[in-house]
Amino acid sequence: MKILIIPEQLGLEERDGGIEKFTHLDTSEENIKEYKKQYPSLSHVKVGQPFKGIILVDEEKFVAVLQCDTKTGYIVALEITPEYRHRGIATELLKMAQHKFNSYKLTVRKTNKEAVSLYQKNGYKTFREEGIMLYMEKKK
Ligand SMILES: CC(C)(COP(=O)(O)OP(=O)(O)OC[C@H]1O[C@@H](n2cnc3c(N)ncnc32)[C@H](O)[C@@H]1OP(=O)(O)O)[C@@H](O)C(=O)NCCC(=O)NCCS
Repeated sequence: MKILIIPEQLGLEERDGGIEKFTHLDTSEENIKEYKKQYPSLSHVKVGQPFKGIILVDEEKFVAVLQCDTKTGYIVALEITPEYRHRGIATELLKMAQHKFNSYKLTVRKTNKEAVSLYQKNGYKTFREEGIMLYMEKKK
């Protein structure tokens, strides 16, 4: 599993007083399994596949994760830990998914109102519905 950690591109330190420091994590598969035990939010991260993305941490605290499948152009995981939500972090990570990882598509449960609202606000449109899932895409 490859996760690139590029926190400085988010500029969160200046924009968001709550996040003072980012730590670079060892993202070997072994370590990710350990982090998953420690941080339930990392349950969204898939291991063992050549996905790319970033994990943001504040000191030792997990803040957010973005993981993209650069082959298909799908975002496979986007999760902000509850105490860091509503600060625009997901919006910034979506921009990074597009520009850094060339990922403009995603799937989301129809019932996930927060996420659907986030994606609509950022210009994503539904191009397919399948059962409980929406497939959404942003035009380049
Ligand atoms: C969905 C999620 C990623 C949003 O993260 P966030 O950092 O709080 O999002 P932002 O601060 O960038 O918010 C941007 C927009 O998202 C939407 N949004 C975020 N939280 C929302 C909420 N609780 N209710 C309704 N809309 C919400 C709004 O449209 C918001 O725009 P606004 O601030 O102008 O109202 C976050 O709630 C999360 O991690 N949820 C659990 C995991 C998940 O569902 N991931 C998506 C899987 S497809």
